[in-house]
Amino acid sequence: MKAATTLRHSRIAGLGEHRPAGSLTNDDLAARGLDTTDEWIRTRTGIASRHVAAADETVVSMGIDAAAKALAACGLTGDDIDLVVLATCTMRNPIPGGAARVASGIGATGVGAFDVNAACGGFCYALSIASDAVRTGSANRAVVVGSEKLTDWLDWSDRGTCILFGDGAAAAVVEVSDEPGIGPVAWGSDGDAYASVGVPEGDWAIRMDGPAVFRWATTQLAPVARRACELAGVDLADIRAFVPHQANVRIVDGLARALKLPGDVVVARDIATTGNTSAASVPLALSSLVGTGKVEPGDLALLLAFGAGLTYAGQVVRIP
Ligand code: UT7
Repeated sequence: MKAATTLRHSRIAGLGEHRPAGSLTNDDLAARGLDTTDEWIRTRTGIASRHVAAADETVVSMGIDAAAKALAACGLTGDDIDLVVLATCTMRNPIPGGAARVASGIGATGVGAFDVNAACGGFCYALSIASDAVRTGSANRAVVVGSEKLTDWLDWSDRGTCILFGDGAAAAVVEVSDEPGIGPVAWGSDGDAYASVGVPEGDWAIRMDGPAVFRWATTQLAPVARRACELAGVDLADIRAFVPHQANVRIVDGLARALKLPGDVVVARDIATTGNTSAASVPLALSSLVGTGKVEPGDLALLLAFGAGLTYAGQVVRIP
């Protein structure tokens, strides 16, 4: 066996996203007979509307579209890819996973492909795995996809959950870089709290102890974000954008406050028209920042994903 490859650097080269054309406003939900109001949902969550995939839009088809757009943004094709990692928790059937079909769909023939299920934490887990694969030489260029069709798993009469979630996908191309572009991941889990959010045994829809998850997210996760900065060797003051999981704008704001982020840090608030898209939420929020002029290529962004499991993960990345 020859010696391990010298570690290389990795970076995000480009992003792509798929937001379904269909959408539901808060008023639409109330008009369906749900005991809620636009005002309650906006003030308690920051959500005004969420995208809803059509019957023929699936985790795989949305993932293919997002991945193809990410490749196009980099001037690449499927031939340039040798690994596809799909972060999702909403495949209709667990076997087989969707990554191999995403790979085929983008013309990446015969490449490594597997799914990661860390629920809403999934994208940051998958990004870290792909980054490490590139850094060690196991892959030269990877596509990391977060794709979710949460509306397949919603009880539309449960106002504590169905108002929160939406569908969508986003993807990042990860490749070798001259400079560090993806920091080491700070990750963890709390399996003892697994029952606080998820599809219970024997049930078919997502159930959640919302206030418990809210407390956990707003009180336990700031140290994870700080640890991600430490691992990357950057100061919080060097961060240009904070891109946390879009679960609730009050959680986003609570985390930004707990981190005492300087006022000029751009905080991603993609949730207003997207809702909570689980593993797609962080890359969708990152993608929506790029091109707004609020961040520039090379700026440092702090990603932080968390959710069912419970799982959490974060890392510092350079904006492509
Ligand atoms: O990504 C996965 C992780 N998930 C999350 O991070 C979600 C975290 N949790 C949350 O975002 C919030 O807990 C929710 C948005 C789910 C709920 O907000 P809350 O401020 O924690 O409300 P609550 O559950 O404590 O409920 C307050 C009241 C209750 O009524 P009573 O008992 O005070 O009469 C609820 O029944 O609001 C009621 N309520 C609603 N009212 C109108 C709950 N949902 C609704 C609704 N419309 N949709």
